[in-house]
This record gives sequence, C-alpha cells and structure tokens, in this order.
Amino acid sequence: MRKPLPEPWRVKVVEKVKLLSREERERVLVEGGFSMFGIPSEAVYIDLFTDSGTSAMSDWQWGGLMQGDEAYAGARNFFHLKESVQDVFGFPYFLPTHQGRAAESLFFSWILRDPKGKAIPSNTHFDTTRANIEVNGGTCVDLVVQEAHDPASEAPFKGNMDLARLRRFFEETPRENIPVCMLTLTNNAGGGQPVSLANVKATSELCKEFGIPLYIDACRFAENSWFIKQREEGQGHRSVAEIAREIFSYAEGCTMSAKKDGLVNIGGLFCTRDKDLIDVLTQRLLVVEGFPTYGGLAGRDLEAIARGLREVLDESYLAFRTGQVALFGEMLTERGVPHLKPTGGHAVYLDAGAFLPHIPPQRFPGHALAVELYRDGGVRGAELGTAMFGEMDEATGEMTTHAPIEMVRLAIPRRVYTNDHLEYVADILGDIAKRKEQLKGFRFTFAPKIMRHFTARFEEIT
Ligand code: F0G
Repeated sequence: MRKPLPEPWRVKVVEKVKLLSREERERVLVEGGFSMFGIPSEAVYIDLFTDSGTSAMSDWQWGGLMQGDEAYAGARNFFHLKESVQDVFGFPYFLPTHQGRAAESLFFSWILRDPKGKAIPSNTHFDTTRANIEVNGGTCVDLVVQEAHDPASEAPFKGNMDLARLRRFFEETPRENIPVCMLTLTNNAGGGQPVSLANVKATSELCKEFGIPLYIDACRFAENSWFIKQREEGQGHRSVAEIAREIFSYAEGCTMSAKKDGLVNIGGLFCTRDKDLIDVLTQRLLVVEGFPTYGGLAGRDLEAIARGLREVLDESYLAFRTGQVALFGEMLTERGVPHLKPTGGHAVYLDAGAFLPHIPPQRFPGHALAVELYRDGGVRGAELGTAMFGEMDEATGEMTTHAPIEMVRLAIPRRVYTNDHLEYVADILGDIAKRKEQLKGFRFTFAPKIMRHFTARFEEIT
C-alpha cells in the first residue's frame, strides 16, 4: 500500500536545533528543579511541550505581517480578521485578545460577577478555563462521556458531552446558577479527543430547552471538524469549512486561543451573538487589553490570525496533521509504549501509569517519564497527571487525591517537525521501555497553591 501524502508544503526557512550532551542535560534538569518549565528552550532538542503558539507560519502569513497597520484605532487588519471570524465562525461580534485566557478572564469575570452558587458545566474544562472560573468564585463541572476515562477505548468521539448527566445537572441546579454551558473542541484535558457534530447539536438543544447559552472553547475547532468529516456518518462529503460553520451555528459564542488552530504564535478571540454582552466586554477590554480594534495585539498579529483561520481549514493540511499524530501513535505502539487510544488531534498522550506501575501516583509516574525523556533524548513533554491535578495536604506535602490517568502529553507543533523527528522520539521511548523498572519517582520541593505545575520544583527519590 502507498504511504499517505507527505507534508503539503515546502520548507523556506529553517531554525537550528541542537542536542546537548548528556552531562549538560543532567545539569539543566538539576538547575531547573526537575521542572519541564525550568528548561531553557535552547537546551531542548525536540520540543513537544505544547502545540500552543509553536506553529510555523506560512509564507502567506509572514507576508501579512509586513502589511500590519499599526494605527491605534481602526487598523485594516482588524477588518480582515472580522471578515475571517464571520466567514469561518459566523459570529457577528468579536473582540481580539492577546491570548485565549485573556478572553476567558474577560468573559468569566463578567458572567460570574455575582458568583454565589454558580456552576459552569463543560465536557472538560481546560486548566486555564478552570482557573478563570474558580478565581472568579464559580464552580467547574466536567461531564464528559464515560468512555473518555478508558484509555483503551477506540470510541470515535471520546470528547462528547454526557447528555444524560448534563440534563440531570440542568434539572437539579436552579437556572440562574448556570450562567453558561461550555464545550471544549477538541477536549485537550481528555486526550485531544473530538466532539461529534450530533453531540454539539444535542448539547445546544438541551441548553436551549433550559435557556442556557452554549459557548465553545474553539482552540482546536479545525482538527475537531476534520475528525467529524472522517468519522461521523453522513459527514464525509462535506467540507471542513461547512462542518465548522454548522458547529458554531449551534453556539451563542466562543472563546479561542488562536495559538492553536489560528496557526499563530500569539493571539486570542472572544466571539458572540449577544450585542449587550459585547458592549459590556468592550468596556472591560479597554481597561485590561486595549482598544477593541487591536485588543492587546499588534496590527500585524491580527493579520496573521485572519489568514491562519482560513489556512487551517485546508484539508490537505488537516489530513497530514492528524495523520502525523496517528503515525506517531503507531510508532509508539510498535515499541511497547502505552498511550491513549485513539490518538487525538494535536498530541499523543502516554499512559505513564500503565508504563511505570512500580511508581505510585503520589510519586508522579508521568513526571518521572517526562524527566527521563529529556535526560535520555533532549525531548520535552508535559505531565498531565497527579503532579498537575492531584490535591495536596498543605501540612504534610503528601498528595491526597490523584489524577484519573497519569499522562504525559507529547504535543505536536503545527508544521514544525518531520516524521523523522517523531521517529527519533519514539526510539528514545522504546529504549526507555527496555529499562523502565529503573526509573524513580519524584516529590515536590516547592508547590504553590494556584496553577502549581507552572512553578513547582521537584527532587528525585533515590
Ligand atoms: N483552552 C484550551 C482548550 C487550551 O488548550 C488552552 C491552552 C487555552 C484554552 C488557553 O489558551 O494559552 O492562549 O491562554 N492550552 C495550552 C496547551 C497552554 O499547552 O494546551 P492560551
């Protein structure tokens, strides 16, 4: 059988990367307190820490940067972005923000201005969304379908909202205590798994029945739309652009970090159909981000997003993109490295709990694997396990709860690495698999209360 088509682009500019010696990598780990956030980028050979803001822009986007209009008010690039937002999403009103969490902060600080008793359901809130809801006094409720919790289930839409639980939640909670319902496409915290079109529609109908606005976290909407085209019955003949338009037609608005499917290095959006809401948020944007035609960004950045939002719908790109992630998953399976099935849109999520059963959750098996991957290969991944999600007893420093699955996310930046890069990573993991019993657990030496994982430091338990 012929291989799928390779990268649908040619390389015009390259950026050098370098593998440090093992001794240097060891020193970098110690100096950074064994935190993946503490490693300088130049000390990383292959960086799979995140797919956020790490995309390679196209010649069309770089060309757009030169056409940035840096006027304080009414820059032409704002109007280009407005056209893209209307064409791609169909929302009449939007505000640019400097990244996704600024849009979240703007939105949640307003709708939770009287937070008492308020709760916001989602399939799964991403951690910045959760933090923005919680710092504003609200409660997050994750209602993803059961199969999301089974790493071996090959179900096609493991990001779906559990509609029965959502209905129960709506029935049991006073309407005035649910300011919005959210849906994260794809479900990043749950393995980058997509939500089906039927599920978006049904969630929207349920929201309408109870009079609750539905907002989408649209970070990876194009990857989600591509999976719908590939996997959902009756959708194969439609364009991804059409599918995306239908998804957003079911929502009142969205928040978006353009650093993902906007194919840019910085930027975010808040979109809505609600005129009164946009008027209020515009006033707030003026205080925290800037004038509403730039919202914390330069004109050139607005142009790059305007172009990225259109470019990301290119189906040859999406076929390669999701194909590359799937191929990476197959390489890992061949080498005996367990990971969440099916592979998601933007990342492979290693199942470190299954891989390192000798390290208990409170000793952070995911972190141990992430450290070893850097130590052995100069590769950076991100722990999404107990070090990130577990609750800690402040007095003893011991973990009192652990994450449902101990994951290490290997996120693939868009249009940046070749399949050879990923094969190198798979080989490193294959080598680690042969001597995995030797890996040791970790404990915190510093663990702040809010957004702990960003600044926590660790020591290896020898
Ligand atoms: N929502 C989702 C689903 C995300 O994945 C992210 C960021 C955000 C919101 C916030 O966007 O970073 O622009 O403020 N995710 C990054 C990641 C950080 O690595 O997955 P932001």
